[in-house]
Amino acid sequence: MEKMVTEEGPVLCGEKVLLRLFTPADINEVYIGWLNDPEVVRYSNQRFHRHDAESSRRYLATFSDTDNLFMSIHALSDNRQIGTMTAYRFRHHGTVDVGIMIGDRSVWGKGYGQDAWNTFTGWLLSQKEIRKLTAGTSALNYGMIKLMERSGMTFEAVRKAQEIFDGQAADILYYAKFRTS
Ligand SMILES: CC(C)(COP(=O)(O)OP(=O)(O)OC[C@H]1O[C@@H](n2cnc3c(N)ncnc32)[C@H](O)[C@@H]1OP(=O)(O)O)[C@@H](O)C(=O)NCCC(=O)NCCS
Repeated sequence: MEKMVTEEGPVLCGEKVLLRLFTPADINEVYIGWLNDPEVVRYSNQRFHRHDAESSRRYLATFSDTDNLFMSIHALSDNRQIGTMTAYRFRHHGTVDVGIMIGDRSVWGKGYGQDAWNTFTGWLLSQKEIRKLTAGTSALNYGMIKLMERSGMTFEAVRKAQEIFDGQAADILYYAKFRTS
């Protein structure tokens, strides 16, 4: 089966953001700072790990020679690096699981996450090999839930009291969107 992208990968433009493949040059103090910011990783299992340049290079290397994508998100206004997105593709099933991290907290709540999500998921669903898009998050992550629902994904499943956040067990909610054409 053909790969989802060429060597250079997709370069996608939304209304506020540009997405392109994450490269070794994107592993800098700003990026590592996001991964070690407890607010940013509050709902991610990354919160249990300490990150540095070496662990970041190891993570980036896991995408090599796979159908998965690791994208860097940039503000269109000044090209500033503001976050990352991942797509894990299960080629035999025609599905792809998507994740997002807007690491730059100064732009939270300004529509960058929604624009990045809509742009990337729209492009993924336009790929003929992909028939279903999935994503999941903690029931406490209101911003993420709103973002998924607003992109046209629908609630699919729940794992009750699945993970511990701030000492409390919380549900993990799964959302999905099918290709329609
Ligand atoms: C979740 C996240 C992607 C949202 O990105 P963002 O750029 O702040 O979101 P947007 O500004 O596009 O907001 C989308 C909607 O969600 C709302 N929203 C965002 N954060 C919210 C929060 N904490 N609580 C309630 N609503 C929230 C926004 O207000 C907006 O709705 P509105 O237009 O009606 O106001 C971002 O906060 C993030 O990356 N967080 C850290 C990593 C993370 O949790 N990723 C998901 C793990 S599964």
